Amino acid sequence: MSYVVTIDGPAASGKSSVSREVASSLGWSWVSTGAFYRALAFFASYKGVSLESEQDLAQAIKSDLWKVHLSSEKTLVFCEGKDVTEQIYTDDVGSVASQISKFPQVRKELLQAQRDCTVGVKGLIAEGRDCGTVVFPQADLKFYITAKDEDRAQRRALEEGKAFEEVHKSQQVRDTQDSQRVTSPLQIPENAIVVDTTDMDLQQVVRKVEQSIREKLQI
Ligand code: DC
Repeated sequence: MSYVVTIDGPAASGKSSVSREVASSLGWSWVSTGAFYRALAFFASYKGVSLESEQDLAQAIKSDLWKVHLSSEKTLVFCEGKDVTEQIYTDDVGSVASQISKFPQVRKELLQAQRDCTVGVKGLIAEGRDCGTVVFPQADLKFYITAKDEDRAQRRALEEGKAFEEVHKSQQVRDTQDSQRVTSPLQIPENAIVVDTTDMDLQQVVRKVEQSIREKLQI
């Protein structure tokens, strides 16, 4: 049986970078579950599916025209056979992903595909908003990574070459949507190790998370 470790947290908290580095160091796989919501947001916009229609969005999930693939660098997304990974990891697609992630039927339809990421892997680090609470409630270890919202916005603004104010504003909307929705809101999972990365650099966070995993799982 493979190990599962979850890392949840708000937008731009550094979950993906931490997951990638820790997974690489342990020789495990990792998945950004946000990629599923981003892929659906991208596909639905591309195909003109109404972003307000829960039913049409849930139907679009069943299409075999889009796919998510695990890789060591990024969770990859393909749309009609083309690699659209670079296009989904933008702030704009993130906002649409957040908007459509409030629909219970959408969440339900995406659940199995996210759980299937454990198939055939030695260990999996799954990052997102509800990985420790809903996707993998039986995970071997759970983390909740956060940072002051100004710091998160500053990091994302630098990454995307956008103005701080613009990123900060859209991040606040996403934080509110993601943590106040009725179905599977962002919350700290029970027994999760909380890491506030405000005054830490990436390598410090990676070391702390990896050390905790090695200690708790005795690997
Ligand atoms: O982690 P991210 O920025 O790639 O996620 C994009 C959006 O997808 C996020 O704002 C809300 C949604 N999401 C979710 O509802 N549940 C998850 N487990 C992961 C992401």
